Amino acid sequence: MKYIVVSGGVVSGIGKGVIASSTGLLLKTIGLKVTAIKIDPYMNIDAGTMRPTEHGEVYVLNDGGEVDLDLGNYERYLNVTLSRDNNITTGKIYREVIEKERKGEYLGKTVQIVPHVTNAIQDWIERVAKIPVDNSGEEPDVCIVELGGTVGDIESAPFVEAMRQFQFRVGHDNFALLHVSLVPDMHGEQKTKPTQTTVHSLRGLGLLPDLIACRLLGPQSLLPTTKEKISMFCHVAPEQVFGVHDVSSVYHVPLLLQSQGIVEYLRKRLNLAALNLPETMLLKGQTLQKRWKELTTGQERLFDTVSIALVGKYTDLKDSYMSVTKALEHCAFRVHRRLIIHWVESSDLEPETQETNAAKYHDAWRAVVGAGGILVPGGFGSRGTEGMLLAIKYAREQKIPFLGICLGFQLAVIEWARHVMGITDATSSEFFIDTQSPLVMFMPEISKTHMGGTMRLGLRPTVFEPGTENWSRVRKLYGGASKIWERHRHRYEVNPAYVQRLQDSGLVFAGKDEKGERMQILELPDHPYFVGLQAHPEFCTRPLNPSPPFLGFVSASCNQGVLEEQINVQLHNFKPPHPEGSMVSESILRSSIPEKTIVNGHVNGIVGE
Ligand SMILES: *[C@@H]1O[C@H](CO)[C@@H](O)[C@H](O)[C@H]1NC(C)=O
Ligand SMILES: *[C@@H]1O[C@H](CO)[C@@H](O)[C@H](O)[C@H]1NC(C)=O
Ligand SMILES: *[C@@H]1O[C@H](CO)[C@@H](O)[C@H](O)[C@H]1NC(C)=O
Repeated sequence: MKYIVVSGGVVSGIGKGVIASSTGLLLKTIGLKVTAIKIDPYMNIDAGTMRPTEHGEVYVLNDGGEVDLDLGNYERYLNVTLSRDNNITTGKIYREVIEKERKGEYLGKTVQIVPHVTNAIQDWIERVAKIPVDNSGEEPDVCIVELGGTVGDIESAPFVEAMRQFQFRVGHDNFALLHVSLVPDMHGEQKTKPTQTTVHSLRGLGLLPDLIACRLLGPQSLLPTTKEKISMFCHVAPEQVFGVHDVSSVYHVPLLLQSQGIVEYLRKRLNLAALNLPETMLLKGQTLQKRWKELTTGQERLFDTVSIALVGKYTDLKDSYMSVTKALEHCAFRVHRRLIIHWVESSDLEPETQETNAAKYHDAWRAVVGAGGILVPGGFGSRGTEGMLLAIKYAREQKIPFLGICLGFQLAVIEWARHVMGITDATSSEFFIDTQSPLVMFMPEISKTHMGGTMRLGLRPTVFEPGTENWSRVRKLYGGASKIWERHRHRYEVNPAYVQRLQDSGLVFAGKDEKGERMQILELPDHPYFVGLQAHPEFCTRPLNPSPPFLGFVSASCNQGVLEEQINVQLHNFKPPHPEGSMVSESILRSSIPEKTIVNGHVNGIVGE
C-alpha cells in the first residue's frame, strides 16, 4: 500500500481537499485503485450533531455515517464508496484508546499520547486503507490521507507526530508527503516567505515534503522565478514544486497538476512501476483519463444555459447544499449546458414578505418564474415551508419541471393534499405536533416518547411499483431497474393512513420500500417532470455518472427533447455507483447498522429531512 499524506500550511480553506482528490484521480488514470482518509483534528465523534450553519452540509455515507463534505469530494472524484471509518477525528481515536485502557489492554502501563495515541492513529490508517472501496472488491493500491487543519496547530500535533513515525513504519518507497501552501500575491509580486516558514516548521516536526503545492489565489500561475526561489529555500528540487492557481472550474485541477508532471514524479518517488498493474486496470485508467478530459474541455465551450431555482433555507450558506449543487453541475455537463442557479430563500416567497419587504418578495418570485426548473431540497424545521409549498404549487400547476428531495418530497405530498384533495390544514407533525391532518408523520417504529429518537440513515433500497416500467421516467433514468439504492437521512415519512386516499386522488407513488409501506418516490405521469424522492440522491452523483433523478430534472428544465434523449442514454448505459456488496436489503441492514441516537436537546437543530 502506498500512502500519500496531504498536509496544509499557512491557512486552511485553500483547496487542500480538491488538490488531494485530484491527485488521487490522476493516480486512478494510471490504473491504480485509490482510497482516501480524512483526518479532522476535532474532538467530535461524528458530524451529525453539528449545526449545518456552522458546518456546511452533513454528508451521509452508505453505512449511515454522517460526515462533512470533504468525504463527498473523494467519493465523487475517485468514484468510490467510503465508510464512517474513513473519517478519523481526535474524538474517535481518544475514545478507542480510552476504551482499550478501561479493558486493561495496556496491561496497567501509563497511557500516553506517544506512543499509545500515535500508534492508534497509525493502526487505524493501516486498517481502513485496506478496505475495498469499489466494485473490484480488492484492496486499494494507494491511500490518500488528508490531514485537516494546518501544521503547527496544537490540535493536529498528535497526528503530525503519528505521520512522522508512519513514514518509517511503511518505508520510504510507500510514503510521500504533499504539502499545500499559500503563495500570496502582493502588488504583483508572488511572496514565498509563508511557504518557507511552513516548510521549515514541517521539517522541524520531522516531515520532509516530497511535493509542495503552491496555491495562488488568482488567475496568475506560479512564475518560474518563484518556483526556483521556493525550491532553493525549501530545499527541494524545482520538479517538486507545483503551482495551483484559480481555474475556471475545480474539475480542471487534475489536468493542471498533470501538466506539471505530478504523475511522473510520484511514479518515480513511490516506485509505482514495481506494482505490475494488470492490463485491464491500465485500460480502465486510460478510458477514465479520456473521459475526464472530454468532460473538462467540453465545459469551456458552453453557450446554452439551464437555469434552476433552488428554493431552500440557509441559502446564504450555500455550502449546506454542496452535494445538490454538485449533482446539478454533473447533469449540466452531461447535457452540455452552463448551469445557472438562482438561490431563493423560501420565506421570501410568502405573502408576509410582500408586506414587509415587497422588493425581496418580487425578486424571489421573479427568480422562480424565470427558472427552467424548480428544486426544493432537504431541510429541517417549519420556517420557510409555506414559501416552498407555494413554489411547488406553481411548478405543479404551470407544468414546470420540479424535483423535491426529502423535505421537498414531503411538502409536495402536503401541497397535493391541500390543493387537490382539499385537506386545507394538511401539514407535517414535524411542524405542528397536534395537527388533525398529519400527512407527514414521525416514523411509526421510532418511539415518540423516548427522546433519544433515531433516524433512518444510509443506503436503502426502493422498489418500483409494477407497471411503472411503461411510463415512469425516473425508473427509465435508473436504466429501467426494478430496485434501486439511494442514501436516506430522515425521521419523518408520508403517513401510511393517507396513502390510499392520496393515490385515489391521482398522486402516484412510483417507488416504495421493500415492504411497500414507506412512500419513497412520487411522480406525476401527466406532468413534464414532477418528481419527489424521500432519499437524498445527490449524495451518490458522479461527474461522469450523474444522479438519475437530477439528470431527468435538469434535462427537462432544458426541454422535453433533451429529457427523451437522456432517458435513452440511461436506459442503455446506467450503472449504479455502488459496489455490489453495499446493495443489501433493509431487513439485513437494520440488524447490522447501529441506529443513530439523537442527544436530548439537540433535536431541533439537527433533524435533517
Ligand atoms: C469527521 O467527523 C468530524 C466529527 O464530527 C467532523 O467534524 C468532520 O467534519 C468529519 N470529516 C469529514 C471529512 O467528514
Ligand atoms: C464507478 O464505480 C461503480 C461501482 O464500483 C462502477 O460500476 C462504475 O463502472 C464506475 N464508473 C466509472 C466511470 O468508473
Ligand atoms: C407494459 O409494457 C409491456 C411490454 O412493453 C406490456 O407487456 C405490458 O402489458 C404493459 N403494461 C401496461 C400496464 O401497460
